[in-house]
Amino acid sequence: MASPLVIFPETTEVNPKGHLVIGGCDLVELAAEFGTPLYIFDETTLRRKCAQFLGEFTQRYSNTLVIYASKAFINRALARLFHEEGLGLDVVSGGELTIAHSVDFPMDKVYFHGNNKGTEELKQALYWGIGCIVVDNPQELATLDSLAQEAGVIQDIWLRLTPGIDPHTHAYITTGVTDSKFGFPLAAAEVALIQAQKAAHLNLVGLHFHLGSQILELEPYKKAIAVVLSWTKEMRKKHGFSLKEFSPGGGFALQYLRDVSVPATTDYAEAITSALVTQCQSLGLDLPQLIVEPGRAIIGQAGVALYQVGVLKDVPGVRKYVAVDGGMADNIRPALYGAQYEGIIANRVEGASRERFSLVGKFCESGDVLISDIELTSPAPGDIIAIPAVGAYCLAMGSNYNASLKPAIVLVRGGKARLIRSRETWEDLMRHDLL
Ligand code: LLP
Repeated sequence: MASPLVIFPETTEVNPKGHLVIGGCDLVELAAEFGTPLYIFDETTLRRKCAQFLGEFTQRYSNTLVIYASKAFINRALARLFHEEGLGLDVVSGGELTIAHSVDFPMDKVYFHGNNKGTEELKQALYWGIGCIVVDNPQELATLDSLAQEAGVIQDIWLRLTPGIDPHTHAYITTGVTDSKFGFPLAAAEVALIQAQKAAHLNLVGLHFHLGSQILELEPYKKAIAVVLSWTKEMRKKHGFSLKEFSPGGGFALQYLRDVSVPATTDYAEAITSALVTQCQSLGLDLPQLIVEPGRAIIGQAGVALYQVGVLKDVPGVRKYVAVDGGMADNIRPALYGAQYEGIIANRVEGASRERFSLVGKFCESGDVLISDIELTSPAPGDIIAIPAVGAYCLAMGSNYNASLKPAIVLVRGGKARLIRSRETWEDLMRHDLL
């Protein structure tokens, strides 16, 4: 069995007290200072992941732009960090767009996705001069053309296609199949392409697909690239369409469990860039700009959740429970997708005798189980449990269930912890309530 630390951030170590340390900060001290539940992001891991994606893709295909998929989790400090690292942004809502705009993120590197963008969101995007809007359906094509006309702009757009390839991941996060709420099925895409070419205020520059998330195979990317590029060739012949930008979306996997490995960034980069070059060459197409949209693979490993142990309960002969002070409100993924995590006691890392427990949250549902089967060494009230690989889609999908407060977030580096989101207060919780 590998060390449990392999799925923690890159800077993780254990100090002589037996405490877990990330970014030079003792997690037990962080929990005492900022309270729990606490989410920690390791700045070094985050920046290295950005650089790794840029490096792996651009060394194989220099004309690549990496845009971070904000839905995995974004806030203002992180948006600034991604900009500093040279990434663009994929946004899917007026909210994500506003966060980006609020930190002067260059709007020409922002790409707007979504199957049901609101008119106000589209207007805002046009007004701020967004780089590209990824059109999802015929209705949006028509609406956007008239909004662009009103705004007096010619807007660059892509069409989002569903190439009909199954990436073999969880059904809830499968998107590139024909029966999907997202995108144009290939059979309907020609009509859309003609409509887009005719739209006087839209400039069709690219094509996009996104097969799904946490994709463990490379083959689906290669197949989908072949399908979409051969369709592009046909559209060039029939309608003079020229593909300037091309995106195979995101979906790159994160290692959640120490003994279940996933493809490396290198593997995805090699599969995607070689399929793109080979297909373009054999079809006689010019090489487009490549835009990739990683979310989970950029931010997942950098994030660690800290919880404090409260109640221990033993149902003799059945199960032992360890309850912590967070749960499904800050991490819905186990309940929603059956996602599996690991965890360790941060204040006593090298424990000897291990026992099996269910690690549960404090929310009023039996399904509020963070880890159904975890080995821990004599857990006791007050212990700090650290769960790694929680950077993506945990806080982003968080809620105020049971009128709970959303956790604080710190960014750690070089022994310093910077609070990048304060813990919600009871006042925050009631701010919008009217009597
Ligand atoms: N591009 C598009 C168009 C997307 O829809 C997504 C994710 C991404 C990029 C980024 O995918 P990633 O690289 O992070 O896999 N809440 C789910 C994941 C939903 C993904 C939605 N779309 C989860 O917790 O697993």
